[in-house]
Amino acid sequence: MKETLFAKFAELYGDDNDARFYFSPGRVNLIGEHTDYNGGHVFPCALTIGTYGIARPRTDRLLHFYSMNLDHFGVVEVSLDDLSYQAAYNWANYPLGMVWAFAEKGYVLEHGLDMLIWGNIPNGSGLSSSASLEVLTGVVLRDLYGFDALGMTDLALYGQYSENNFNGCNCGIMDQFAVANGKKDNAIFLDTADLSFEYAPVVLTDSKIIITNSKVKHSLVDSEYNTRRSECADALKALQTVLDIKGLGDLDMETFEKHKSVIGDEVKERRAKHAVAENQRTIEAVAALGAGDIERFGQLMNQSHVSLRDDYEVSCEEIDILVDLAWKIPGVLGSRITGGGFGGCTVSIVKNDSIDAFIETVGKAYLEKVGHEAEFYTVEIGDGARRLS
Ligand code: GLA
Repeated sequence: MKETLFAKFAELYGDDNDARFYFSPGRVNLIGEHTDYNGGHVFPCALTIGTYGIARPRTDRLLHFYSMNLDHFGVVEVSLDDLSYQAAYNWANYPLGMVWAFAEKGYVLEHGLDMLIWGNIPNGSGLSSSASLEVLTGVVLRDLYGFDALGMTDLALYGQYSENNFNGCNCGIMDQFAVANGKKDNAIFLDTADLSFEYAPVVLTDSKIIITNSKVKHSLVDSEYNTRRSECADALKALQTVLDIKGLGDLDMETFEKHKSVIGDEVKERRAKHAVAENQRTIEAVAALGAGDIERFGQLMNQSHVSLRDDYEVSCEEIDILVDLAWKIPGVLGSRITGGGFGGCTVSIVKNDSIDAFIETVGKAYLEKVGHEAEFYTVEIGDGARRLS
């Protein structure tokens, strides 16, 4: 694979002398969904699938971006003298957004670069291909231009900044953080209120984490996502008139129940209820995992799904079908939607001796009910974004 990528790089850009090789993973979130913009906890891990990149500085002021997955766009060329978002750049707005974000933060590029990428994160699966590409570009820029003062969390924050302000999705920090700071065989217990985090070893003796891709990508994702975010902000504002809190993550359920009527809107109240309950569930789930109680971890995953489906309303028919099917199979300890929602993937913990039955039964019934196939991947937890050579 590396040879193919370097050969393509040389074909596009003349040769591959001094070109450097990078990798940035995708991520899956185990629990703690839609809590990261509410000052709550999340529990994601980096995957071993992700985005590979080859890059080399140029001497002029041109940026060249090429994707081997979307080769029909050809080489997208942008001048450093005009770093504006252009719809025609399509996917290249993600790496360009990082160049822009670096410049906004004072890390201005004096000369351009040639870049080629190829990724194996399934398209539109909700496994963070955009965060992967953003942080990949961050690692490339830091390395090629010597911005050594920047740490991995800075690169994650720049990724979020570019996604919020350049690409228009008001996402939280979870995806970029997980991609930047991932660690093999560990999930990241991150408190988004202050970005403090701990690695938690994911030791599953007789079960595995399985991702099921519904292969449904709903176009609503960005607009509905931004709506959920502002509904939570409104609920917080109302609660702040009676409580001294910075985010919904500061609340336990009891305090929330006592004061929720101040929100004065049934829908916003349900959104806030999810944010509060999900944060509490995440804290409990990480403790359960640490204590080796995978059964409890699985139950909390199931509760997370119900809350995302009914109170937060970010699931969809196909995902609910996958989760309902999974719940019926003996040996499935927990199953839920993962990521932003409205399609994408579920994450399940399945006993080793039930994995074949899980894939066969869920796969067959899903095809019958929905009319297209689901895809299954066994999770391998990998390291964060880095230079390979
Ligand atoms: C998307 C966003 C994240 C997070 C999740 C939901 O993946 O990018 O910041 O909010 O949705 O948990």
